[in-house]
Order: sequence, then C-alpha cells, then structure tokens
Amino acid sequence: ARYFGLIPAAGIGARMGSAIPKQYVNIAGQPMLVHALAAFAQTPMIAHTFVVVSPDDGYVDGALAASALAGRVDLSVLRVGGATRQDSVLHGLRAMREQVGDDDWVLVHDAARPGLDGELIERLIAALKGDEVGGLLALPVVDTLKRADAGQGVAETVPRERLWAAQTPQMFSYGLLRRALEQATDVTDEASAIEALGLVPKLVEGSTRNFKVTLPQDVALAELHLKGQA
Ligand code: C5P
Repeated sequence: ARYFGLIPAAGIGARMGSAIPKQYVNIAGQPMLVHALAAFAQTPMIAHTFVVVSPDDGYVDGALAASALAGRVDLSVLRVGGATRQDSVLHGLRAMREQVGDDDWVLVHDAARPGLDGELIERLIAALKGDEVGGLLALPVVDTLKRADAGQGVAETVPRERLWAAQTPQMFSYGLLRRALEQATDVTDEASAIEALGLVPKLVEGSTRNFKVTLPQDVALAELHLKGQA
C-alpha cells in the first residue's frame, strides 16, 4: 500500500478575523498551508499530496509559486472545496480516485496545523502499519473539563480520564474512508465517520506543537514552535 497526503484548505477561518483566509496567513515567513505541505513533501514515504482549495481560491498559486515547494511534481491542487470540512475532504477523495487504490492509505491533515513535521507523520504511519482500521494523532486532555448549561454556568464536570483531543493527520485506507464519509452526516473529523461504521480508530500520541491555529493570538505561538523557541 502507498501513502498519500490530503490537505483540506478550503475554509474561511472566520475566527481568525483576518482579511485573507487563515491557511494563507503568514507564519515564520511562509503561508500556513505551505508549512503543512512541506511536512508531507519532506517525508519520503508519502507518494503524493493533494490539496483541496475552494473553486474560487485566488491565493494558492501565488503561495506555492513563492515557496520552496514551487515546481514539485508530487503535489496536486484540487479546486473542489465544499461548504464544510467534511465536504472538502470527500470531494478531494472523489477527485483523487484515478491515482489512488482502495487499499492505499490517506493521511488527512488540516492546513491550519502548521506545526506538523516528518517525525509526526512517520510516527503515525509506524504505529498504524498493518492496522485493520487506521487512526489519528491525538493528545491526552490535561485540563479539567466543564460542560456549560444554557447560560455560562457549569452544568457538570466531565471526567477527563481517557479523554484525548483529536489532531490530524488522520490515516485510513482510501476505500474505507470514502465509504465512511459518503455515509456520515455532520462530522468534524475523519475518525468520527469511521466510528459511525462501528469501527475503532487507534489513538497515536501527537504533539502540542501540532495545535490548530484558530485565533489571531495563535499565530505568535505557532511562530515560536516553528522557530524552535517554544
Ligand atoms: O475551520 P477549521 O479550523 O476547523 O478548519 C480545519 C481545516 O478544514 C482547515 O484546514 C480548513 O481550511 C479546512 N476546511 C475546508 N473546507 C471547509 C471548511 C474548512 O477545507 N468548508
């Protein structure tokens, strides 16, 4: 089986409040998306990486041309992004059909996680090699968790025992992942769609540096991580 990267990058990133979509916000000298792509481009086990952008995206060509990844042949841009992350991933999977077999692995990764690197990709692949289902990078939850009532009162404390926060990449075989996402409704990650089929994805320890850039203040933290200062 081969390994493919699939990066949904068709969101607008409303919580960032930036003029440009967040995947193109500059972090340590490169658009966020380029950092995520570079992690795949630098990992020899990855056969090819697909990026899903929205059909009217006016940034991706410039961002790639200006980066060190320019001219790489193992990268395809698919202009098939949809209304939700799930749609973008599913449209991407359909568009990859010709190049990928049902038994090949697909590693789906958020463009908004620029802290991914080759070591984390290799850790995920090594942990799941030969696995029948697949799995995802994730981290045990360290905070005490509260569920709010209809206002902002505490309705309950959720025991954090055995709770993990999901990251990406999430790695499943092409055939299984496509079947799961074709059937799923309203999932925010790939693993939930697999779980809905009654299967059990494996949790593989990720890293705090692989956090999702969501709010404006996250940019500075991501820069520190990328410069090796955090
Ligand atoms: O908004 P959020 O941070 O949850 O998005 C996670 C990833 O999904 C981002 O890389 C974003 O670009 C992508 N996305 C997408 N299509 C959408 C919404 C989000 O590809 N419609």
